[in-house]
Amino acid sequence: MPLQVKRLLLVFAIFIGIMLVLKYVLTPDSWREYGPYRGNAIGEIASQQAKYVQKESCADCHDSIAEIKSLGEHINLQCEICHGPGYQHVDDENFKMEITKNNALCLRCHTKNAASPKNIIKQIDAIEHNEGEECITCHNPHQPWL
Ligand code: HEC
Ligand code: HEC
Ligand code: HEC
Ligand code: HEC
Repeated sequence: MPLQVKRLLLVFAIFIGIMLVLKYVLTPDSWREYGPYRGNAIGEIASQQAKYVQKESCADCHDSIAEIKSLGEHINLQCEICHGPGYQHVDDENFKMEITKNNALCLRCHTKNAASPKNIIKQIDAIEHNEGEECITCHNPHQPWL
């Protein structure tokens, strides 16, 4: 074998050796406990507090809004889509929820967008459709046609 090939093989061997040591040292203990990920990650994620509580919990106290909402096109929307996560508010009513009156709230879902299907969520052109007015002066956010 020519000398330069031997030297090259030696360099490769050292490189592979370093990689094997690093793999040994840096791989977390619970790696591959269940599959190709850290097994401990499951417990870590499960121990975090859920921040969204779902609209059924809101209806316990806000029954009139929940009822209005159930009569219109926004029936399937989660309250927390517009008001932010509710986990602190359901325990302590003094913890304020977000109220956004900005049109951007509505346009997030209803703005004209060629990439989303028009037959599922109705789209409007924000400039042509009542330019300059707040959406909620004409549409009730809980029941758009009320
Ligand atoms: C599409 C967004 C949207 C959704 C979904 C939504 N809200 Fe609202 N909500 C608003 C906006 C915007 C206002 C402010 C309305 C105003 O000032 O005219 C508001 C106001 C409120 C208020 C305070 C004023 C009032 O009317 O008493 C409460 C309480 C409230 N929402 C609760 C809820 C609950 C409970 C749900 C789910 C059943 C819900 N909201 C779903 C957008 C939304
Ligand atoms: C344990 C009862 C209770 C639950 C559950 C509850 N709320 Fe409230 N909420 C209240 C009370 C009381 C107020 C203050 C009412 C007022 O000032 O007219 C309030 C006020 C609000 C407001 C007005 C802004 C503010 O913070 O004062 C919004 C928006 C709101 N709630 C949304 C929600 C949403 C969304 C949920 C579900 C994630 C929810 N609430 C669950 C009792 C509750
Ligand atoms: C998270 C997405 C989302 C947000 C935010 C949202 N909407 Fe909607 N909206 C929907 C869906 C879904 C429907 C039901 C499908 C439809 O009719 O387009 C709907 C229906 C409507 C309709 C009835 C359209 C029809 O079919 O007659 C109006 C009007 C409307 N929304 C206005 C608003 C306004 C005003 C806001 C802001 C306060 C708003 N929406 C915020 C998703 C959203
Ligand atoms: C001056 C009152 C007014 C304002 C402000 C207004 N709308 Fe409307 N909107 C209407 C009326 C009336 C209709 C039904 C006739 C039409 O389609 O133009 C409508 C229709 C819609 C529809 C259904 C469109 C369809 O294809 O059926 C959506 C979605 C909607 N508006 C969302 C919004 C959003 C989002 C805003 C804020 C950027 C907004 N509107 C501001 C009065 C208003």
